[in-house]
Amino acid sequence: MDWKHSQGERTEDLVSVKLRSSEWLGGDDEWSVASRSCLRSEGFSSEVFKNRPVIGICNTWSELANCNAHLKPIAEAVKRGVWAAGGFPLEFGTMSLGEPLMKPTTMMFRNLLAMDVEETIRANPIDGVVLLTSCDKTTPAAIMGAASVDVPTIVVTGGPQRAGHFRGKPVGSGTDLWKYWDERRSGKMSDKEWSEFENSIVRSGGHCGVMGTASTMSSIVEALGMGLPGCAAIPAVDSARLVLAEESGRRIVQMVKEDLRISKVMTPKAFANAIRVDMAIGGSTNAIIHLVAMAGRLGYHLPLTAFDEFSRTTPVLANIRPNGTFMMEDFFYAGGVQAVMKNLGNLLHLDALAVTGRPIGEPLKQAAVHLPEVIRTRDNPIYPEGGTVALFGNLAPDGAIIKQSAASGILLKHRGRAVVFSSYAEYMARYNDMDLDVRPNDILVLQDTGPKGFPGMPEYGKLPLPLKLIKHGVTDMVRISDARMSGTGFGTVVLHVSPESRVGGPLAVVRTGDQIELDVPRRSLELLISDDELKSRLQAWKPPQQHYTRGYGKLYEERVLQAHEGCDFDFLVDKEKKEMIFSFGPVAEQAAPELAAGGIAPIESPRPAAVQTHTDD
Ligand code: FES
Repeated sequence: MDWKHSQGERTEDLVSVKLRSSEWLGGDDEWSVASRSCLRSEGFSSEVFKNRPVIGICNTWSELANCNAHLKPIAEAVKRGVWAAGGFPLEFGTMSLGEPLMKPTTMMFRNLLAMDVEETIRANPIDGVVLLTSCDKTTPAAIMGAASVDVPTIVVTGGPQRAGHFRGKPVGSGTDLWKYWDERRSGKMSDKEWSEFENSIVRSGGHCGVMGTASTMSSIVEALGMGLPGCAAIPAVDSARLVLAEESGRRIVQMVKEDLRISKVMTPKAFANAIRVDMAIGGSTNAIIHLVAMAGRLGYHLPLTAFDEFSRTTPVLANIRPNGTFMMEDFFYAGGVQAVMKNLGNLLHLDALAVTGRPIGEPLKQAAVHLPEVIRTRDNPIYPEGGTVALFGNLAPDGAIIKQSAASGILLKHRGRAVVFSSYAEYMARYNDMDLDVRPNDILVLQDTGPKGFPGMPEYGKLPLPLKLIKHGVTDMVRISDARMSGTGFGTVVLHVSPESRVGGPLAVVRTGDQIELDVPRRSLELLISDDELKSRLQAWKPPQQHYTRGYGKLYEERVLQAHEGCDFDFLVDKEKKEMIFSFGPVAEQAAPELAAGGIAPIESPRPAAVQTHTDD
């Protein structure tokens, strides 16, 4: 790969920087002696760290997080690389966040992990850091923490699991679980089949093997230039991942010498590239919250409208579940994120600086699409617009999100009667009731599941459909909430309604029987009642009691920001953030003009072909 030539040999280009670790290890006073003797007690002579960059290896390994449980050998590979390049590696553990086991929701703890990473780096003699992440929230959390300290940083993600197979068909954790769960509920799957399915969906270490949140965040890492080329899609169990980890260990040592800090890589151009790639892979809705939060740690305001602008000019190219047909393993063999970026061509800032120390466009010269059905071209996309779009209206004054590429085209323009549930518990108590007053064209509205409401904004937005409708063959309905949805999920699901109902957003005062209009082509979400009626309902609304009276839960509930602000804590982001200025069309200035040309005309704000008008008055 082209980025390799920037390693090792370029000593004449190295910026001479004072090592941060020398404040701990370089003096002749009693504190330096204490620091050095502590390392000696671990068996390290001072020769192995004297005047060498100390590289922290931040490991989110945990047996409580299956997606991260394979990271130990990856950490060892990173260490090999650090040693080989003349650095001194020190591995440290952080808390981990595993989606399947953690309650009430990992999102509630993303900021805690970010604080753990930030303060561990800040408090210790660390010159540069390698972040080992995998499951959904571990990647943004670790980046947020490192960004706040702004040391040289490289990310090694865990890679996707092997694709599962169930009775001859490929299945992925998440996406196929939701699908087969509806079959199970409608009585189409026997106990034996259901048990066999359980044993089929998760086949190895690594994160979910579809384009869920973890795969999306890994792809974003590569598009931001925060990981080495190819890092997102290499399967977790493939030896190529260990090789990439070793190369990352070598590279971080050089990054310290070059003073290549995270703020020099995660620039507005890098974020523009990340959002483009997010749209082109049909990324998880959760990525929007995480990108806004990561930008906030670097002092930037990233508005939801930017996602919408990029979505209008970026087609979905990756034919991966839940948007498409294939699995992450296929994505790897097709060429991965590098191939997607190559096909995006002049929609990207190819001159953006990456952790390689070189323009991100440079290795794309060697990238290729090996399976054209898996990674499409811009003139033959699987969806003409980017996956996730922002909606605004009197029901979501600060915005809401829908993943249009995983929704039913016929429902993207829909008016229907609201059927309201004031909590997830209420919905779960009633959704199997065959007497529930609900019809196929109704809109299910779930309240009080937002950042403060649940709290932690769980992945409850993709409500399982009412049993009585499933039995009549209904497979999708419009669902609206202030919750999130798993990146592996699908359906016509409006999420992240902001402000949330718990803080008195309009969602809190929707009543069963109201009419709601969703119009995705117009990006609008409206509650069809008069302004006076809405105002009077909001004036009569009373805030509920807080959930927590102590501990981290209390801190979270009191200080978490709303979804459109990235759900970070208000005291961890700059009050005076800089606006990110983007150019939403094809990019003029390029480091690799032959890629920019690409032979393919730029997309001109196409409209989704599948959109049809569908109303129920
Ligand atoms: Fe960890 Fe899906 S459960 S990535």
